[in-house]
Amino acid sequence: MQLIRTIADLRTALRAERSAGKTVGFVPTMGYLHIGHLTLAKHSQLNCDVTVVSIFVNPTQFSPNEDLAQYPRNLPHDLKLLEEQGVDYVFAPEVDEMYPDGSGKTSTYVDVGDLSSILMGALRPNHFRGVATVVSKLFNIVQPDKAFFGEKDYQQLAVIKRMVTDLNQPVEVFGVPTVREPDGLACSSRNSLLSAEDRAAAIILPQAMQLAQTLVDQGERSVSVLHQAVLDKLQQEARGEVEAVDIRDAETLAETAELLTAPAVLLLTVRFGKTRLIDQHVLRF
Ligand code: PAJ
Repeated sequence: MQLIRTIADLRTALRAERSAGKTVGFVPTMGYLHIGHLTLAKHSQLNCDVTVVSIFVNPTQFSPNEDLAQYPRNLPHDLKLLEEQGVDYVFAPEVDEMYPDGSGKTSTYVDVGDLSSILMGALRPNHFRGVATVVSKLFNIVQPDKAFFGEKDYQQLAVIKRMVTDLNQPVEVFGVPTVREPDGLACSSRNSLLSAEDRAAAIILPQAMQLAQTLVDQGERSVSVLHQAVLDKLQQEARGEVEAVDIRDAETLAETAELLTAPAVLLLTVRFGKTRLIDQHVLRF
């Protein structure tokens, strides 16, 4: 495995791989890796000749009042995990390498319209603009054949897919199912920020999603009934502050009719202390 710190060095290395006829798979991350990230890398390794994982805590997707400084980091541990898994390249640039004026800002942004401003985009203005911008930059640097993103960040995956379509970016985007802890909580770098009590309480998220699926399995199709049932379940846990419960079309993220006729995605955002947890479950019937 090679650790690469500069754009120029990564381009040189990947040019050689490409001219040897190798396909390149790419997994962008912000580090503090867990089994969810490693599963994305495994998908890339199984589908591509060469796998690049980037580790970059991207300032443009955090707003000034958010947790950029608190975002957990542990590069040596990340490198150990990726080495053990046999990943080929890790690209871990400094902020100045990606945003050369030193401010962590850029003049040019990629804005994916309405998809960026709804749902999580309404709670975190400019978040998806930052994500789309850095992922575009990384796509231009890595020039991957295939890129792998988690379904856990469901709206992010939708934003990236739309961006790639709209801008004709020559990369195939794959969504990978959410990897969970044994008790059902989605693996997340942010779980490490939870107190022991909040970590225990956070299983209310998978429990609420399970409840919704059970109701759908029993024939419930009313969005308002499902929404209220999920809300009631989440509110049983006083440690969590429910920020958003949304049921949207699983393909388009558009609002659904009152009675479901097609798969819908349940999107949850619950805050424990300062830590915002998100999760998703596609309601199938
Ligand atoms: P990060 O939160 O580090 O996540 C990197 C990738 O791992 C994302 O595609 C995310 O959806 C996926 N992932 C996280 N938890 C997962 C889980 N439990 N199961 C499966 N996949 C999971 O998302 C970002 O970083 C950033 O916004 C980024 C795309 C790197 C742009 O900066």
